[in-house]
Amino acid sequence: MIDLDEHTITAEVLRRIADTPDRRLHGLLSSLVGHLHDFARETRLTEQEWTAGISFLTQTGQISNDVRQEMILLSDILGLSQLVVAQNHSRPRGATEQTIFGPFHVDDAPARASHGCDISGSRGGEPLLVAARVTDTSGAPVPDAVVDVWHADAEGFYDVQDSTWDAEAAELRAVFTTDENGRFSFRSIMPVSYPIPMDGPVGDLMRATGRHPMRPAHIHFMIRKAGFDTLVTHVFADGTPYLDSDAVFGVRSSCIGHFVRHSPGPAPDGSSVDTPFHMLDYTFVLTSP
Ligand code: BEZ
Ligand code: FE
Repeated sequence: MIDLDEHTITAEVLRRIADTPDRRLHGLLSSLVGHLHDFARETRLTEQEWTAGISFLTQTGQISNDVRQEMILLSDILGLSQLVVAQNHSRPRGATEQTIFGPFHVDDAPARASHGCDISGSRGGEPLLVAARVTDTSGAPVPDAVVDVWHADAEGFYDVQDSTWDAEAAELRAVFTTDENGRFSFRSIMPVSYPIPMDGPVGDLMRATGRHPMRPAHIHFMIRKAGFDTLVTHVFADGTPYLDSDAVFGVRSSCIGHFVRHSPGPAPDGSSVDTPFHMLDYTFVLTSP
């Protein structure tokens, strides 16, 4: 077909992809083309705006690498990540809710003993003792679950944000295995509220739309065990600022943990702490896939 105009072009593009052998790909692409074309028509998109959009996406791709995931960040600040998580992981009441993954997980975090490790490395901050349990929805313990933990330091930075980072230098991240009672515990430092990375195109977009970049203080957990849906979640610190305005829409009220502040003295893990310290006691509840 020739002489396509702004009204007839959509049907012609859809006709050209009609024979896509992968029917799911066909459905996704057809919907995307339809929505994109409608968007351009509805907004009367100008050539200058279209060029600016292409340039923004190009910069977003160019600044991305294994540890700087600007594309994920863009999806996060637009609420798309949380939307996709929510519609793919509806959970029965009582099961721990799924949240966004975020860009700072790494695959090769060090494996640590189920109890007794301090993952804070060289990072200073108020000590935090975490004692956690993993159960199924009936309350039965889940032993041998693999638990990835990662969080930011007292300045709000993840170890991977340091350009000299390598797996040997991993701090504030570890992989634990639950013991025969489904428990694991570790020592670290108290997380704080922190801004998402603002020095790239996503930061420019946040500023252009007058949004604050902050996330409430949290620790990330990913828990894997055969026979259960892999749980990716956060535990947010109660009372932390930004719980109701997380820059990436990740907060679920059921994922707010009670971080109790204690005066210096003996801690339940047998150690003695000479500064104020915090304790988090938390139960994660897994469901079947
Ligand atoms: C995070 O919590 O690590 C995070 C999640 C989404 C965007 C930026 C940071
Ligand atoms: Fe985080």
